[in-house]
Amino acid sequence: MSEHVLVKHVTKFVDQPVTLKGWVYNIRKSGKIWFLILRDGTQFIQCVVLNTEVSEAVFEMKNTLTQESSIIVKGVVQAAPRQELGYELLAKDIEIIQIAEPYPISLKDHGVEFLLDNRHLWLRSRKPFAVLKIRSEIEKACRDFFEERDFTLVDSPMFTPNAAEGTTTLFETDYFGRKAYLTQSGQLYSEAAIMAFNRTYCFGPVFRAEKSKTRRHLTEFWMIEPEMAFFDIYDNMKLAEEFVTYLVKRALKKCRAELAILERDISKLEKVEAPFPRITYDEAAEILKKKGVEFTWGDDFGAPQETAVSEDFDKPVMIWRWPAETKAFYMKRDPEDDRYVLGVDVIAPEGHGEIIGGSQREDNLELLLQRIKHENLPENVFQWFLDIRRYGSVPHSGFGLGLERTVGWICGTHHVRETIPWPRTMVRLEP
Ligand code: 4AD
Ligand code: MG
Repeated sequence: MSEHVLVKHVTKFVDQPVTLKGWVYNIRKSGKIWFLILRDGTQFIQCVVLNTEVSEAVFEMKNTLTQESSIIVKGVVQAAPRQELGYELLAKDIEIIQIAEPYPISLKDHGVEFLLDNRHLWLRSRKPFAVLKIRSEIEKACRDFFEERDFTLVDSPMFTPNAAEGTTTLFETDYFGRKAYLTQSGQLYSEAAIMAFNRTYCFGPVFRAEKSKTRRHLTEFWMIEPEMAFFDIYDNMKLAEEFVTYLVKRALKKCRAELAILERDISKLEKVEAPFPRITYDEAAEILKKKGVEFTWGDDFGAPQETAVSEDFDKPVMIWRWPAETKAFYMKRDPEDDRYVLGVDVIAPEGHGEIIGGSQREDNLELLLQRIKHENLPENVFQWFLDIRRYGSVPHSGFGLGLERTVGWICGTHHVRETIPWPRTMVRLEP
């Protein structure tokens, strides 16, 4: 009896019999020998099938096995320096679980819309496999970073009466006769939580009815949001650059094989090291002016502006001190000039756009109330949020990192929809 082993562990079983269970990825035939690439969801391995080593019935399976047929292969692990794993399997026996129907995704190139329509199958291909493996590692690194630094995980609700990030991208839903929204950000709840736990983070899906069809926008995406009591904007920026550096280093350490599948130029990632360059909004505006990029002072940056500014740097760049009118109501006014707020955006290199938005928060009750009125937000549902400023208000800050954009940058993908298992955009609800 040989043991059922995951392909990623075969290296521990050299010259030993093992049982592998998985799916046929590809078959290559040449006379008295054929090769089967088996994948089991942990790795791919080449299985060598020789007519002298298997029964005739098994040898003839080369004509019946189809792509994605599910099988059990028994054999002996042997060193094969030219193979990706450094090992291959000399097959002794194959048992068929199911012969797959003709598989729609062949190994040739397909259009991306076709692949997205078949996302439930496309997940099995090499590139999505590598991207989602990296996503999984980055999610783990996000938690590790904050767990190592005295933060408490305090989850925020998905249903809320509060608009945190403007009223134009709200998904509204009927909540037993009352109006509720799907959350755009957990931040407001985290601001309450830090008064109980000092430093917190929340990590989950957030929802925005984005009508833009860009390669950076999803309607459902994941955000990790740390919030810290007694942090000013400088402390906040320092933590943000440390965090981004930590994530990139983790990918370089743990995801080499996946980055190789994606043919990612890792020399670009190796340059990512805190501190990051910091420029003010006005300095960024100067860069745009020099480059002749169209833009009006006071406007938020879109993709063309972000990309033009980030081109000048080979690390992520932090743009801070924004005009108050471009940013959310909760950002603290710059004490030196109240036309500005103490907000910061972190822009990734290579055109991947804003990966972090953050700020020092307005901690003054009167000013915050004024801002809520100015934005025409319903005061009554913000009373609980104002309480945070009534009972022991302290300076505090936080930020949100968009998981998909960060993974997209690390992987070098073209569109953020490739970095989430089941992408949701304005035009895509299925599968
Ligand atoms: O800049 P945003 O809107 O900031 C907030 O929501 C703050 N409340 C966060 C905080 O301070 N706790 O969003 C944060 C990040 C962006 O920098 C971007 O990376 C990502 O979330 N993001 C999106 N990612 C994919 N699709 C979208 N539609 C996104 N909108 C924002
Ligand atoms: Mg933002």
